[in-house]
Amino acid sequence: MIFIDACFKKNVPYTPVWMMRQAGRYLKEYMKVREEAGDFLSLCKDYKRASEVSLQPVDILDVDAAIIFSDILVVPLEMGMDLKFEKGDGPVFSEPLKSLEDIDKLDPNAYKKLSYVYDAISLTREKLSPNKALIGFCGSPWTLATYMIEAKGSKTYAKCKKLIYTNPSLMHTLLKKLSEILKLYLEEQIKAGANAVQIFDSWASALEKDIFFEFSFKYMIEISNYIKEKYPHIPVILFPKGISGYLDGIYGNFDVFGVDWSTPLKTAKEFLSPTYTLQGNMEPCRLYDKQAIKESVCDILEIMKNKAHIFNLGHGILPDIPVENAKYFINLVKELSSK
Ligand code: CP3
Repeated sequence: MIFIDACFKKNVPYTPVWMMRQAGRYLKEYMKVREEAGDFLSLCKDYKRASEVSLQPVDILDVDAAIIFSDILVVPLEMGMDLKFEKGDGPVFSEPLKSLEDIDKLDPNAYKKLSYVYDAISLTREKLSPNKALIGFCGSPWTLATYMIEAKGSKTYAKCKKLIYTNPSLMHTLLKKLSEILKLYLEEQIKAGANAVQIFDSWASALEKDIFFEFSFKYMIEISNYIKEKYPHIPVILFPKGISGYLDGIYGNFDVFGVDWSTPLKTAKEFLSPTYTLQGNMEPCRLYDKQAIKESVCDILEIMKNKAHIFNLGHGILPDIPVENAKYFINLVKELSSK
């Protein structure tokens, strides 16, 4: 698998490419299955349909990896929290965490209830061509905690940050509990057939530097250490979003660093290459225009010439991107990077 080879810095015939959120609303084929399934969470729990939409971007765009269709928030859901995806409003927890009692009530065996994810992975791996990788994933403990405490997406993260500064040990209790579950959750995904795993830390940038390393990065590395010790052949990808000023502090045993679009790739290369393969980082809104795509693909390939690299967007693809432009992007990366 060329994707896995690139994760391990081996020579590859071209730069492998996939897109975050590649199974999604910009595809009419996704919308059709989503409507058949009912709401978003029903689609996540329906392993056959979840597998079908995971495979769509591989069939339609010929990306080098599939990512299993699910959501980071199925973990708190199965820990016992009530979750709804409101139209236009995103995810909402009706009873956000407030106290140690609330945290103690969360089910530490939640990973055992996520068999719909493992079944979707097994089925997808079975159907996927052997040269394409299947990526499993989870949210970082910190990013999950933000939703569990704030109840929904937040602009200020004031409730979480208040906890960090007024009662840090309570926050650590929650982050530890999440980390223990996420280790076992990723392990089950690997046993089911995931060839690589990615940890999404979408709200890393909400934290000042030292606090990021203490309350977020440390836990991602703990999870990665657990996986790398037991499954050294499985690449671990970390994606802490928006921390271009913190790159000098990045350390630890993982394989691929996901670079978001706001971080200059040259800076990431300076600090992190060749220790880690870099993944990224075209600004997703460039997909609105072919010329804008071409400029960025050329720039990024030039910067990463002769360095271990996986091409991706610097965050998820948006729902109103023309599929034709996404196809153009994927083909262009392969064509221009071919050796
Ligand atoms: O990448 C893929 O194709 C795999 C599937 C995937 C989804 N969510 C499907 C999804 C992955 C990897 C995620 C991760 C995820 N979920 C993150 C981390 C990545 C990031 O974008 O920062 C976060 C923060 C979430 C939580 C979440 N889920 C939010 C905030 C939302 C609402 C925003 C939106 O895009 O609508 C979701 C819903 C969601 N997750 C959708 C999809 C396809 C849209 C639901 C729909 O079909 O209507």
